[in-house]
Amino acid sequence: MRVLVTRRLPRAVIERLEAEHDVDVHRGDAQMSVEEFHSRLAPCNGVVVLLPDRIDKAAVDAAPNLKVAANVAVGYDNMDVAYASSRGVVCTNTPDVLTDAVADFTWALILDVTRRLSEGDRLIRAGKWSGWTFEFMIGAGLQGKQLGIVGGGRIGKAVAARARAFGMTVAVSSRRDPGWAAAEFMPFDKLLSTSDIVSLQVPLTAETRHLISKPALMKMKRTAFLVNTTRGPVVDEEALVWALKEHLLAGAALDVYEREPEVHRGLLALENVVLSPHLGSAAMETRTAMADLAVANVLAVLSGKPAITPIAPLASAP
Ligand code: DGY
Repeated sequence: MRVLVTRRLPRAVIERLEAEHDVDVHRGDAQMSVEEFHSRLAPCNGVVVLLPDRIDKAAVDAAPNLKVAANVAVGYDNMDVAYASSRGVVCTNTPDVLTDAVADFTWALILDVTRRLSEGDRLIRAGKWSGWTFEFMIGAGLQGKQLGIVGGGRIGKAVAARARAFGMTVAVSSRRDPGWAAAEFMPFDKLLSTSDIVSLQVPLTAETRHLISKPALMKMKRTAFLVNTTRGPVVDEEALVWALKEHLLAGAALDVYEREPEVHRGLLALENVVLSPHLGSAAMETRTAMADLAVANVLAVLSGKPAITPIAPLASAP
């Protein structure tokens, strides 16, 4: 059968696919145009896609023999799972293998924004450091403070587990109590108004788009920090820039953006904002495991077996 892979993946992973199927790998540095993507997808039975590729109605309709679309990501807001599955296409994602990497990275951002690490780095490079003084670049400590996690999934749980090492208490808000040890389940509004760090770990759905907008930001403590390692559109960036300028919160650390790779100009101008270019899962071991799992899903479905990590159609994000 024929499989399209929309970006270069580790050689060994591609070789596993090539051992069983005809493989078309897009080797260009830039993403394919939608037209090229659909025309290369047309003869395929399987496809391995990355976040910028959309498995939408048009893509599914372009490939009448498609059986499986494997996303190399845990989030799947780039896939219309309900439509694909109505056309017999199994959609898969890469849960579990990236949980620790994203949780670690979330903590890197928490430490960076609270202790002004990137800000200090910029200052030194600009030649503006004139030496140690008692009150210079004072940040915020973490011990005894509350980490509020929005979302009761695997990554939120792993972020919560690391909070113990920093002496923080943990609050969680989600549709139902995830029952995490030593975490207090609380309503969203209460979590916003009592947390010192608010970390977003919800998937992007119609319900969570702009979950953090003006009313939510106005509930946060003026000393609190917002961290986002999930999906950009969960935060209304315009509202965040406004809230930061009004000093309604102390700072923000963002790995994801509403219109990637574009970043709101207002954020670029603020010293109390840490910006990273969607690196949450970008550890070599993790990315290899993600590619491995995506390819294992394609191989399973094309050989008539169930997918290893299928996405349930009902959980489909818009
Ligand atoms: C994911 O897996 O959803 C990540 O955002 C990709 O790094």
